[in-house]
Amino acid sequence: MMNETLLDVNLKVYTDAATASKYVAYRIATEILDKQIAGEKAVLGLATGSTPKKVYQHLINLHKNAGLSFENVYTFNLDEYYPMQPVADQSYVRFMNEQLFNHIDIPKKNIFIPDGTLSTDAIAHYCESYEQRIADLGGLDVQLLGIGRTGHVGFNEPGSDWDSTTRLVTLHDVTREDGAADFGSKENVPTQAITMGMQTICQAKKIILMAWGEHKASIIQRAIEGTVTADVPASYLQQFKNVEYIIDNEAAALLRK
Ligand code: GLP
Repeated sequence: MMNETLLDVNLKVYTDAATASKYVAYRIATEILDKQIAGEKAVLGLATGSTPKKVYQHLINLHKNAGLSFENVYTFNLDEYYPMQPVADQSYVRFMNEQLFNHIDIPKKNIFIPDGTLSTDAIAHYCESYEQRIADLGGLDVQLLGIGRTGHVGFNEPGSDWDSTTRLVTLHDVTREDGAADFGSKENVPTQAITMGMQTICQAKKIILMAWGEHKASIIQRAIEGTVTADVPASYLQQFKNVEYIIDNEAAALLRK
């Protein structure tokens, strides 16, 4: 069973994150160009965290130096802390503006990031409309993912159902520890977040999960080779053929293959 699964895995291991990120950026650029040629929109699911930063730098380079336009691109971010003001240092709105959107020609109206400013009673309806917006645009063409040490993708923490959709979640203790550097201390990290669900993610036409560094080796091993379980939400991705794992040598260190 395990061997069969491994044979099916679309896994690319690179010497370093920089080379791997260039590959991912070219994949996205190709998607955007293919859609432009066909006169269509490209709908991207985007991630935050340190993992995709170099991908965004390459995309900015392709825009500035090779004329890649993002005018036909729509983006949906995976998640946002709750509560969170967009102007706060730790907001994913600020992150995305600084890391990507401020440097490319994407129309502002095409950018969607979960809203951390809503009142709690408005969240459920908002999450439904987030799903609906993605569906109305024909679904996500490519979804970029990092992975948290708990095995979360987006903020789908252990215990998340495979058919979960966009919703308010409670963050795992480990995730809040990992966020401490950004917030000054763990106590300052919000206890909740709004995240796309596992089903939202898995319905994307292509999924690219990236991981760099030895601190990701253990969770990458469990996500790719371990049992499919709610304890490691990223393991749900094993059930889909449209998933590509792009990792560096260090993150691959514990894979048995
Ligand atoms: C946060 C994000 C995730 C991301 C994870 C990993 O929790 N919500 O989407 O994948 O961090 O972070 P990093 O890329 O910094 O390791």
